[in-house]
Amino acid sequence: MARRPMMAANWKMNKTVREAEEYLAALTPRVEADAGDGEVDVAVFVPFTALGAVGRMAGDSSVMAGAQNFYYEDSGAFTGEVSVPMLLDLGVRAVITGHSERREIFGETDTLVARKTSRALTAGLLPVVCVGETKEERDSGGMWDKVSKQVRAVVEGLGENASSGEVADRLVFAYEPIWAIGTGDTATPDDAQDAARKVRDLLGELRGEEFADRVRILYGGSVKPENVGEIMARDDVDGGLVGGASLEAASFIELVAGARKGTV
Ligand code: PGA
Repeated sequence: MARRPMMAANWKMNKTVREAEEYLAALTPRVEADAGDGEVDVAVFVPFTALGAVGRMAGDSSVMAGAQNFYYEDSGAFTGEVSVPMLLDLGVRAVITGHSERREIFGETDTLVARKTSRALTAGLLPVVCVGETKEERDSGGMWDKVSKQVRAVVEGLGENASSGEVADRLVFAYEPIWAIGTGDTATPDDAQDAARKVRDLLGELRGEEFADRVRILYGGSVKPENVGEIMARDDVDGGLVGGASLEAASFIELVAGARKGTV
């Protein structure tokens, strides 16, 4: 089946509120004009401090305001954390879970990532779940062992709901090999396709073909306007999650255009 392509910007720990506003002022009208026909889902994952402004400016346009993190409880004694109802209040429509920087620097486990993803889906948010291996794991032949465990934990944590098509349409995975993130060292289109295919096959085993066919799988790791076309052209790769090359609005606008398969 045809899955709608998605292009997502991950600003990480960058941009003040004013810089975020300037970016949105450049991006939103372009996306509305070029991709407002719903051909591409566009999300910008911004720091908490910019979410109010971005949520307001994106509104219900074709650009989804996204959060890079949250906690799965709704309220309580969790100093420093932000909950799903707080995000919804700001107009947030998408979240990232399992980013390798959260796993590696902040110690997030497969169990925590699974809980957060499940909470996001229950709230009607679109979670982009990141999975991927380190260079050492890849070199020692342990790539699939690592990635399959990460995918399994999330899908098994979803429970019964996971079979519904509505969940499949909102659940997004991003294969992000850690060695390709911020290094300029992009995986080849074959590597990206191979990993995406393996993830889709595993989803099929766990929840059936129809479910697997509907879930979108992005590639992330040094995606830029020059390589987005060849990556997007691969059958199982449905879009990109982009850090460095998303920081300039003009570059991200090019990436959004590149997300339309066959147009680059
Ligand atoms: P990069 O980051 O595009 O700068 O490699 C991607 C990511 O970490 O999501």
